Amino acid sequence: MSFLPDFKLETFFSEWEFNAKYHMCASDMESMTLEELLNLGSDQDKENWNKLNFKYIETYGSPELRSAVAGSYDKLTSKNILAFAGAEEGLYVAMHCILNDDDHAIIITPNYQSAETIPASICQVSGISLDARNNWNLDLQKIKDAIRPNTRLISINFPHNPTGKVISKETLDDLIDIARERDIYLFSDEVYRLMERSEDIRLPQIADIYEKGLSLNVMSKSYGLPGLRIGWIASQDLKLLDKMEKMKHYLSICNSSPSEFLSVIALKSSAYILKRNRKIIKNNLKLLNPFFAQHKDLFEWNEPDGGCIGFPKYLGSEGVVKFCERLIKKHSIMLLPGSIYKSAIGPSPSNHFRVGYGRIAMQDGLIKLQEALDHHKSSF
Ligand SMILES: Cc1ncc(COP(=O)(O)O)c(C=O)c1O
Repeated sequence: MSFLPDFKLETFFSEWEFNAKYHMCASDMESMTLEELLNLGSDQDKENWNKLNFKYIETYGSPELRSAVAGSYDKLTSKNILAFAGAEEGLYVAMHCILNDDDHAIIITPNYQSAETIPASICQVSGISLDARNNWNLDLQKIKDAIRPNTRLISINFPHNPTGKVISKETLDDLIDIARERDIYLFSDEVYRLMERSEDIRLPQIADIYEKGLSLNVMSKSYGLPGLRIGWIASQDLKLLDKMEKMKHYLSICNSSPSEFLSVIALKSSAYILKRNRKIIKNNLKLLNPFFAQHKDLFEWNEPDGGCIGFPKYLGSEGVVKFCERLIKKHSIMLLPGSIYKSAIGPSPSNHFRVGYGRIAMQDGLIKLQEALDHHKSSF
């Protein structure tokens, strides 16, 4: 395949995200204003912000950004960091720089669509499905069985979109052993990292612990700053970073300097921002868990391990697509039907939907959702 299919999730979001009154499936944390963010900086930061110009900056990312990002890894330094315009550009560039048409890649399913469709536009791909009946467990035997002599990359994403699953550290270590033995790259999308339910289950960043590991991350999700469009890839493989930098010359060339500047302020204030965001999640889950418990006849729900999204199952007879369609069209409540996660390389979890619990307004949405359920009681 050499084309990229319609990005179902982004198309759905384009249609509804800015029209729905109750956005109940956002994958990012509550954002903040420019004023709030600048106030987290020092007086010097504020002065520098006013003096900032709009020149091109380094393709690799400004020295300040790379140093602030490197500080979030255990063993890496600035030279291990390449900045991108969001995680999306990083994902695109990494796949194109690692994979050739005679390679094979292994991707978990369900997935954030581009994790599958970008590699699938380059080479053969196999899907490894997380087990819906076993708390979205990842079966490493399935990965072993899928490996071919030409497998060049395995792509994972924990905390996972859309289920919030976090595999155990032991499973990650075993996966690294499998990859190392066969000299396979491990691409780890870590954009929901730092929003786990407990610190104990937080996974190490792959770039710290595997020489052929790539850690993808971004300001969008756990920091709630998607409008900055600042992401990065961290890796010990400096040659690969160089190759990716050269491809970036054909794409964004460099990031927006104001966005990188603001990202540095956010990264330096990570303790404050992450504490604030974890509190939002905690408060939202205090509402969401009892809501689902009250509607066991309609929903199957287990609190996710991490991130700010989950993937409950809808049990109503009309099916999840109709359920979500009715909510959005009649009640302006936006939930993301699992059909959006339909994969060409793995089974599609039927009748699930994505719910987001990183936004403060979730509470209003839940009240409206309850009203909608009451309104349609007879048909659910
Ligand atoms: C798992 C995952 N990876 C990458 C991205 C892309 O992130 P960004 O919008 O910051 O480029 C998303 C966005 O939803 C995501 O969920």
